[in-house]
Amino acid sequence: MSVEDKRSFLHGVVAPTVLKPSPLWWCIVLLVCLQPSTCQSRNGPSQEGSCICTSDILSCTALGLEQIPKEMPVSAVTLDLSHNQIAQLKEASFLGLSRLETLRVSHNQLTSIEPRAFHNSSGTLLRHLDLSSNHLCDLEQHYFIDLPGLEELLLFNNRIVRVESSAFAKLSNLRKAYLSHNRLTDFPFFSIQKHTHSELLLLDLSSNRLPKLPLEDISNLPITIQRGLYLHNNSLVCDCSMYGLFHRWAELNFTSVTEFKEEHTCLVYGMQKGTVRFFKHDRYFEKCNIIGMKLPVPEQEGNVLANVGSAVVLHCVTNLTGQNVTFFWVSPNQGYLEPPGNREQSIKMYSNGSLEIKGASAEDSGMYLCMAMDKLQKCNETREVNLTVVMHQSHEHHESFNTGFTTLLGCVVSLVLVLMYLYLTPCRCPPCRKAPPPAAATTAPNQANEAGAGSAQSSILTPTPPTTTEGPGRKTSLSNSLPT
Ligand SMILES: *[C@@H]1O[C@H](CO)[C@@H](O)[C@H](O)[C@H]1NC(C)=O
Ligand SMILES: *[C@@H]1O[C@H](CO)[C@@H](O)[C@H](O)[C@H]1NC(C)=O
Ligand SMILES: *[C@@H]1O[C@H](CO)[C@@H](O)[C@H](O)[C@H]1NC(C)=O
Ligand SMILES: *[C@@H]1O[C@H](CO)[C@@H](O)[C@H](O)[C@H]1NC(C)=O
Ligand SMILES: *[C@@H]1O[C@H](CO)[C@@H](O)[C@H](O)[C@H]1NC(C)=O
Ligand SMILES: *[C@@H]1O[C@H](CO)[C@@H](O)[C@H](O)[C@H]1NC(C)=O
Ligand SMILES: *[C@@H]1O[C@H](CO)[C@@H](O)[C@H](O)[C@H]1NC(C)=O
Ligand SMILES: *[C@@H]1O[C@H](CO)[C@@H](O)[C@H](O)[C@H]1NC(C)=O
Repeated sequence: MSVEDKRSFLHGVVAPTVLKPSPLWWCIVLLVCLQPSTCQSRNGPSQEGSCICTSDILSCTALGLEQIPKEMPVSAVTLDLSHNQIAQLKEASFLGLSRLETLRVSHNQLTSIEPRAFHNSSGTLLRHLDLSSNHLCDLEQHYFIDLPGLEELLLFNNRIVRVESSAFAKLSNLRKAYLSHNRLTDFPFFSIQKHTHSELLLLDLSSNRLPKLPLEDISNLPITIQRGLYLHNNSLVCDCSMYGLFHRWAELNFTSVTEFKEEHTCLVYGMQKGTVRFFKHDRYFEKCNIIGMKLPVPEQEGNVLANVGSAVVLHCVTNLTGQNVTFFWVSPNQGYLEPPGNREQSIKMYSNGSLEIKGASAEDSGMYLCMAMDKLQKCNETREVNLTVVMHQSHEHHESFNTGFTTLLGCVVSLVLVLMYLYLTPCRCPPCRKAPPPAAATTAPNQANEAGAGSAQSSILTPTPPTTTEGPGRKTSLSNSLPT
């Protein structure tokens, strides 16, 4: 093959087919002739190779490019620039690529993305952006601002230390974000909300340097995001509430935990040398109130109905777990309660937050407010329970006795009446009239049954040939959708 051939950006396609020109070959030649200048990266600084252009893919991989090619075919739906030496995405780098859906810039030397880098490109169409294996440090607010349609964002294996809290704000269609193998010590979980990121299913923050998790922000995330939150192989400091979170996720069978149990590590007392695989060696957490967490937490309904004189237990069920959670209650008559209860000992309070009212009276009715506070995490949660104490219980007993008694009385009276009727009536009963012939009464339902069965049968037999499910209709719809 000559040097000219090598220079031809189509060398890979032309060489094998040149011996035996096929329609495909002519098609390609025609395409190239129609757009002679669009496909070559003429302005790229390096000329040792050229991009490969197919119908809608423009592949410029491993060409030693230091900049984005200036002229690219507007027809490109996929642009692959991976394995080059691009250091920056400049303003309007992808100008005019209005059909771009996939952009790969992995394995380059990207350190920054200029504002408006994606401006005037496809914006809403771009769904897949691969910036993995680069040198990015900061995810700035403006990076993805022009990409509201983005669904998959690959940022793993960079040097990201910081994610600005609004960096993902505009990514309302984001489904998967990969940020593992970076240097994050912090992540703005609070910026991810159900209403702003309703599609998010996967957020990979594994293999970073997160020392502590904002547990309240994380437990406020929608359960769909919690399920896809990967946090293994970080530098988490072992503590009970952190363990409680993962323990709960493991119990819920989240694959993010169950498939990476070995990689879930934490640092005992925050020491680097004290790294333990905490699902395997959970002795450190024995002193945590994990047994309490393991037990199914009693549910607490918002409205409780109790009888006068009975004992009532109200639970302070919140999402805060761990040993350093403290609880208090405020009762309807503005009484403040904390363990072990009130002075009169009519109300007992357990350190797990449950409140026991020993002999409920009508005055105990009303709205009870409890608060769980985690002083270490500086977070708190409140719950309200509406207790209504009713007088019904003794009434019910009385009534049931009454009704029982009247029923018995009624029974005896009617028995006596029957006996009187049988033995004290002067005339004998005439011979009983024969019931109408059973046929008329009994065959009717039978007929109905038969009719029903018949109609069922007929509906089974009605010609709805099974071929329709795999028949011509289906086939045509298939063949319609296939070749486009
Ligand atoms: C970018 O698009 C806007 C309209 O969306 C247009 O006004 C502007 O001229 C374009 N910029 C360039 C550099 O083409
Ligand atoms: C865990 O993270 C460290 C650095 O954060 C990384 O070097 C290592 O490869 C990761 N381990 C795995 C199994 O991914
Ligand atoms: C507590 O967690 C449950 C699901 O585990 C969630 O539905 C609820 O909104 C959370 N409550 C608060 C106050 O975060
Ligand atoms: C998790 O899986 C185990 C066994 O695979 C099963 O016994 C358990 O019920 C599951 N738990 C939930 C919450 O689905
Ligand atoms: C819980 O708090 C108490 C004091 O409020 C403190 O002495 C104790 O060390 C804390 N426990 C943990 C595990 O942090
Ligand atoms: C708290 O402890 C009491 C007594 O041991 C128990 O009845 C109650 O169910 C516990 N509450 C919770 C929320 O586990
Ligand atoms: C509860 O938390 C909120 C913020 O989440 C805070 O403003 C408030 O002061 C806290 N209350 C207590 C009693 O700690
Ligand atoms: C509490 O429940 C009672 C009876 O169900 C109701 O009449 C009352 O309005 C409720 N109170 C509040 C504050 O919701």
